[in-house]
Amino acid sequence: MKKILLALLLLFTFSVFAADIGIVLPTKDEPRWVQDETRFKDALKDTDYSVEVLFSQSSPARERENVEALIAKGIKVLIICPHDAVAAAATVEMAQKAGVKVISYDRLILNTNAVDYFVTFDSVEVGRAQGRFLLENTYGASNPLYIYAGALSDNNSFLFFQGAWEVLQPRIASGTFRLINSSEALKQKAKSTLTREEMAGIIGQITTNWDMTVARSKAEDNLTRSKKTDKGTVFILAPNDGTARSIADAFSKDRDIKQYYVTGQDAEKASIQYVIDGRQSMSVFKDVRLLVKDSINLAQMLLQGKTPTTTASYSNGTKNVPAIQSEIQVVTKDNVKKVLIDSGYYKESDFRW
Ligand code: BGC
Repeated sequence: MKKILLALLLLFTFSVFAADIGIVLPTKDEPRWVQDETRFKDALKDTDYSVEVLFSQSSPARERENVEALIAKGIKVLIICPHDAVAAAATVEMAQKAGVKVISYDRLILNTNAVDYFVTFDSVEVGRAQGRFLLENTYGASNPLYIYAGALSDNNSFLFFQGAWEVLQPRIASGTFRLINSSEALKQKAKSTLTREEMAGIIGQITTNWDMTVARSKAEDNLTRSKKTDKGTVFILAPNDGTARSIADAFSKDRDIKQYYVTGQDAEKASIQYVIDGRQSMSVFKDVRLLVKDSINLAQMLLQGKTPTTTASYSNGTKNVPAIQSEIQVVTKDNVKKVLIDSGYYKESDFRW
């Protein structure tokens, strides 16, 4: 009798504390990742899988502790969006050694074999869409262009920049744009394809570090240094929504700025309000539901020992990681209702129209 009770107790304890899938996200401080957590929880409500979501608060050490805790709980699949692409390599190697399958989520983990799959949006296309939007709104020659980028520690910052550069560089070279705030980018203005080192040089100069405060002070500093003739109607490549709002706020306070076009990405609620109000010109909608669905399907297949089909592949410096990729969509004032409300992504009542 005692033995049976003990066995039942063990079974109970195991089922309460065991997790099949562990999810580690970079930080709660950016709305993007809180959005991902919500969408994961929504999608997993009706499944039998036990899942735990942990946040790393922009610390590789915390990220490692999170993964250790999940391994101790017996996870079989780890879905991880790294804070730092390089620092995360050792962490996922630890998971792989423990027999855990690793899915790099949204951001690729670099320089390791221990990434089994990559679930991502088409990030190069995000950058192209931002570049194209700016170009479509230019008139004549010599349009002032200000450029900003994400964090150097995030591989996506390179992919976004690569896509934007592909569109902007020929028009910087031909004089449609006059690049104001990056001497490093100007050095490369004749070069359409940049090496990683060349991109790192530029991104290092124009980085926001994905931080709204850094973005704002960098924009203010650029405005203080630039001449009146570099103002008027300007074009701003901002890498995502949080930084776009800070940069837009800085530009709208400058009396010599008559009009600005600023890009963004993520379709964060606060930025969609900015788009409706005409304070941010566009955002790139990345339907997080797709990424979540792909990751869960992938995790389920791995738990069942099946081999998933992939649609793309990305080199992480050590291996070509098989990837499942989702498309992106541009959002402007003109299509915001159709893309975000009619699709059921947000509620109409979430915004002031
Ligand atoms: C993500 C973006 C996000 C940024 C900052 C990138 O890796 O793809 O959606 O805005 O990180 O968190």
